[in-house]
Amino acid sequence: MADSHTLIKKVAQKLSSARNAVALTGAGISVESGIPPFRGKGGVWERFDPMEYASIDAFKKNPAKVWQVLLKDLNQLIGNAKPNDAHKGLAILEKMGILKTVITQNVDGLHQKAGNTDVIEFHGNFAINYCMDCGRRMDTVSIDLSQMPPRCDCGGIFRPDCVFFGEMIPPDSLLRSQQAASQCDFMLVIGTSAVVQPAAHMPVLAHNSGAVIVEINPESTPLTGYISHHILLGQAGTLMNQLIDEVNQIMR
Ligand code: APR
Repeated sequence: MADSHTLIKKVAQKLSSARNAVALTGAGISVESGIPPFRGKGGVWERFDPMEYASIDAFKKNPAKVWQVLLKDLNQLIGNAKPNDAHKGLAILEKMGILKTVITQNVDGLHQKAGNTDVIEFHGNFAINYCMDCGRRMDTVSIDLSQMPPRCDCGGIFRPDCVFFGEMIPPDSLLRSQQAASQCDFMLVIGTSAVVQPAAHMPVLAHNSGAVIVEINPESTPLTGYISHHILLGQAGTLMNQLIDEVNQIMR
C-alpha cells in the first residue's frame, strides 16, 4: 500500500488533469469549523434519535420541542462557524478551473462563504426559514427565537428550509446533482458517511461514468474499496492543504 505522501501525490496528479471535477461533501467537512457530525464519535445522533427530532412527522407533531432541543443549538453553531481549510481548498480548486460543482449535504452555507459559486444544497439551507402557513420567507438571523416555536406575523410556525427525514430532495437539486455526478471526470467525496440516500448514490453515478473517485475521511465508508479508487485517511482541512500544495507544484 502506498504511504500517505505518495498517495497524495498520486491523487494530486489525477486531480490536476481533471477538467470537470465535482465534490460531494458531508458533515465531516464542517467538523473543523466547530459543527459536530451526525454519526460516529460526538455525533448529534448519539444524543438524539433522528426520528424523534429530524423527521417531518416529529416536527409537525411537536415543533416547539424540535426547535428547542435541536434547531436552536444548530442555529447558534452555524451562526458562529467559519469556513475551514477544506472549504477554502475547494474554492481554490474552483478558481484553478479544476472543480466545477460542489454537491453538499450540509445546510451550513460554508461552501458559499468560502467562495464556491456552484453549490447544490442537497438538503437545503438553514439560513432561510419559511412560514408553514403563508409561505413567507425570512433570514434565520431575523427570526425572533425568544418564543418556541418561532412564529410568523400571520401566526404560522417557521420551519427551516431544510430537508427533514421523510421529505423529498428538492427535484431541481436532485436532477442537477445527478447530471453533475454523471458528467464529472473526478469526484472528491469529503466527510460523508455515505449512508444516507439518495446523496450516497452520487459517487456511484460518477464511478459508473468512469470518473476517478477519491474520499477524504478519517474512517472508511461503504464506498471504500468498491466505488472509491482511493481514500485519504484523516482530517479534511489538513489533507486538503497537502493536496492543494501538491496540485500547485504540478500546475506551476
Ligand atoms: N474531516 C473529514 N471527515 C470527517 C471529519 C473530518 N475532520 N470528522 C468526521 N468525519 C467523517 C466521519 O468519519 C463520517 O464518515 O465525516 C462523516 C460524517 O458522517 P455523517 O455525520 O453521517 O454526515 P453525513 O454523511 O453528511 O450525513 C448525511 O444524514 O442525518 C443526516 O441530513 C443529515 O445531511 C445529513 C445526512
